[in-house]
Formats: sequence, C-alpha cells, structure tokens
Amino acid sequence: MYAAVVHALGEPPRYESVPEPVPAADEVVVEMLAAALYPLVRSFASGGHYTGGDALPLVPGFDGVGRTAEGKLVYVPGMEPPHGTMAERIAVPRAALMPVPEGLDPVAVAAAMNPASSAWIALRERARLRTGESVLVLGATGNAGRAAVQLALDLGAGHVVAAGRDPHGLEAVTRLGAHRTVALDGSDEEIATVFGAAAADADIVLDYLWDRPAQLAADGILRRRADLTRTLRWVQVGSAAGPDMTLPSAWLRKADVLVSGSGLGSISLARRNAALRELLARLPALTPATEIVRVPLADVEGAWESAVRSGSRIVFVPAGGDEDPGASEALSDREPARP
Ligand SMILES: NC(=O)c1ccc[n+]([C@@H]2O[C@H](COP(=O)([O-])OP(=O)(O)OC[C@H]3O[C@@H](n4cnc5c(N)ncnc54)[C@H](OP(=O)(O)O)[C@@H]3O)[C@@H](O)[C@H]2O)c1
Repeated sequence: MYAAVVHALGEPPRYESVPEPVPAADEVVVEMLAAALYPLVRSFASGGHYTGGDALPLVPGFDGVGRTAEGKLVYVPGMEPPHGTMAERIAVPRAALMPVPEGLDPVAVAAAMNPASSAWIALRERARLRTGESVLVLGATGNAGRAAVQLALDLGAGHVVAAGRDPHGLEAVTRLGAHRTVALDGSDEEIATVFGAAAADADIVLDYLWDRPAQLAADGILRRRADLTRTLRWVQVGSAAGPDMTLPSAWLRKADVLVSGSGLGSISLARRNAALRELLARLPALTPATEIVRVPLADVEGAWESAVRSGSRIVFVPAGGDEDPGASEALSDREPARP
C-alpha cells in the first residue's frame, strides 16, 4: 500500500510504498478516505509542535475520515506522530473511532473537523459561551476563524465581530452572519481605534493570531470598555501572526481580564473526545465554512509546499479519489499559517 512519508523534519513527504499496518489486539484497520492538511499537521511534520515528537520516518496527518472492514464511515481523531492518517490504510484503537453521521461527505468532514473543533472546544469548554454574549474572533478569515464565527452564532452568541486581513475573507464571514468586521489594515493607532469601536464590550475573544493584532485588539478594547469590571474572557487558540506578544501588566489590573488557552494540552482527552463526538453530531446542521481543495494523496509532495487561498483547505484523498479540477488554481505560493 501507499502512504505519505516524511524522511527529514521540515521536508515535504514523499508518496511511497509502505508495509500494510498490523493492528494490535485493541486496534482495527481503517481504509482512509480523506485527511486534511492544516497548520498542526505541518507543525508535527516539521518537529515544531509544542507537544514534541521528532521520530522519523513519519506518516503525517492528525485526523481524517475512513471506512472500517464492516463498511462503517468513521472519524479518526488525534493520531500523533509518527503514525498519521495520510496513508491508504492505518491501524487505530477501536475505542478511538467516532461514527460519522449518515449522508456526510467524508472529504467535507475531514476538511471541517480541525477548524470547527478549535472553535467548538474553545467556545464551549474554555470560554463557556452563554446565550446572548458578544464574541470577537481574531483571525476570522482563515478556516478556523470562519468556523468560529459560524459556531459562535450557532451556539447563541448575540453579537459576533470578525477581525482579519483578507477583504474577501471578511466578506465571506459577513455572509456567514458576522455582525461587524474589523480590517487589520492601517497604523497601530487606527487599528486599535477600530477594535475599540467594534468590540469594546466583547465578553469573549477567540484569538487565532496573537502578536501585534492581539495587542492592538486588547489595547483598543480596554481603552473604550464601558464597564471595566465586566469580565473579558480571552481564549488563545492559535498564533498565526506570531508566537509572542507584549502583555502590559496594567491591562490585567485595569479591567477584569481572564486569559486562557485552548489546545491539545488544555483539556483532558476524555473531554476533548466527548466534544468531538458532539461536534460530529452537529455537523449535518452546519453550512460548510471551508472551501475544499481535493488532492490525490499521490500528489502530496507537490501540494505540501503550496498554501491555498484564505478559507480553503487541502484534503488528500488516497487512491481512487477524484481529483478536483480547480485544485491547481486554488494552490498559491502564499506562506502557510504558523501553527
Ligand atoms: N488550538 C487549537 O485547537 C487550534 C486548532 C486549529 C487551528 N489552530 C491554530 O489557529 C491558527 C489558524 O488556523 P487555521 O486553520 O485557520 O489556518 P488557516 O486556514 O491557514 O488561516 C490562517 C489565518 O491566519 C491569518 N494570518 C496569518 N498570518 C497573519 C498575520 N501576520 N496577521 C494577521 N493574520 C494572519 C490568515 O489571514 P488571511 O486570511 O489574511 O491570510 C488566516 O486568517 C493557526 O495558528 C493554527 O495552528 C489552533
């Protein structure tokens, strides 16, 4: 059988012949149908993820959708390196498999689950969103940010502000229902002022960016906040703009600000898996927020280095998958997002 195989950290995987998986007593073999490429997958394959791990060779791919020998469509969550999902067949602990609701396209599920789960877990488990609350999404034009706008509304947010760089992406999140947008365009003072005008009374910030945009958002919000004792729950989810930011100590004293994070280490595996099952059950009711770029797994090496248009996601389909005629158009030379 064939798989994508990384032989040197940071190098793209090669499509090559590998031995069939041999399942342990508690494992089953799953025939993979779709596995998405996103910042975490790239990060594992470069050895740069905070959970560590640099074993080689590695098969990349963190999650995906496949079929069991009994013909059941299943979601495979959280395969850590070196045993990833970008292979024709993989061995997975039986208990880890999650049923995919009837009628869903495996490729669409593979595209949606990582971005949607980032928002689902952050909003429900970390921010504990309550009906009617106001949410600011920083980095709303990417896959995770678009899902965050959609899920915040779906979970009952009363007001959603979407902030990002890409004007087309900001139009897209407005179509998804965002009440207001903030363009990350202009001088620091201009951007902070717009954040203050649009989101001063936010209850929750879902932050996919960190670095300068997060600093400007916090500055703008805290300057204009009407009630400084109204709790601001800032949930750090991604660092697409950069890994560090300056957090003036006064910001944590002048207002009631709670800073937390949402990632692989911030909730237990049991809670994470329960949240993923809930999200899978919710998927049929949600409009897809991601534009899918379907690429045969055989083309993994060439597609790996390409980034795609804002809000699009590469999904690799093993042998037999249909190639997306628009795939090469959607691939571009932009820098992929930081994990
Ligand atoms: N903790 C978790 O559970 C979790 C789960 C999923 C993702 N994440 C993280 O969340 C982040 C976004 O993931 P994604 O799947 O949405 O990636 P993506 O689809 O590639 O989108 C990347 C986003 O980051 C924005 N961006 C990149 N550089 C920027 C900069 N310098 N300033 C402002 N915006 C910038 C892009 O803006 P443009 O649209 O203008 O290009 C886009 O909105 C990544 O850091 C990822 O690792 C975390």
